Amino acid sequence: MLSYENARQKLIVALDVPNRTEAMEAMDQLRGEAGAFKIGLQLFTSEGAAFVKEAVKAGHRIFLDVKYHDIPNTVAKAAVEAARLGVWMFNMHASGGREMMKSAADAVRETCDKEGLTPPRMIGVTVLTSSNEATLRETGIAQNVDDRVLLLAELTAKCGLDGVVASPEETRIIRNAIRRPDFEIVTPGIRPAGGTKDDQSRVMGPGDAISAGSDFLVIGRPIMNSADRAEAAREILREICRAETTRSGASNS
Ligand code: C5P
Repeated sequence: MLSYENARQKLIVALDVPNRTEAMEAMDQLRGEAGAFKIGLQLFTSEGAAFVKEAVKAGHRIFLDVKYHDIPNTVAKAAVEAARLGVWMFNMHASGGREMMKSAADAVRETCDKEGLTPPRMIGVTVLTSSNEATLRETGIAQNVDDRVLLLAELTAKCGLDGVVASPEETRIIRNAIRRPDFEIVTPGIRPAGGTKDDQSRVMGPGDAISAGSDFLVIGRPIMNSADRAEAAREILREICRAETTRSGASNS
């Protein structure tokens, strides 16, 4: 049976709050439950790199979710600075292409090697979980969501990144297609039973997402909007433990 601690390592809580005070409050409340915290565009824009450094220094694992997408040289240089901040994970849009992803991955590994830093996990974003077929059409993409996700996941793997962000619905297709056991799948769009979907289109419960093969769950509003955040997180952890038990029971039989 998966231990509570192992389940905790899989939970990334999205700090989608406007400022340092609220972020610190959430990190204090969830210190025992979250394996990592995600700093995204809102908090990074308001508090900047200083806050990322502060959170890392306080001992938190930080996923810097700023989804880099620019010319290869710019992304590589920004990625190196993310590594120097000491983040545990960061991401870039896989739709930025091979040269962009490869330049970033090579530059980060080279710098970390030279400067004695631990390289962060580098993750490619496939298709945002708020997007659907209609979103792809309006941006001129004729593929369906599954084909698009698979193409971008395969490209990410070929560029030597550590994994992808994808919706839990696509986890199985990615696992079946990419035969790299160390390839990590990070899934937002998680909604415990009875919760609202908010603006997410492609959602799944935490236990089902783990059963489908997700390595990390990114969860924001179902925890952050709860009156008791720690208890909401613990309920999710219990569900992850139950799912892992069912999964390992099934694979052992
Ligand atoms: O509140 P909720 O659980 O929907 O938060 C999900 C988080 O994951 C948000 O911070 C969102 O920006 C992020 N995210 C996502 N879909 C992606 C990548 C990141 O929802 N493909």
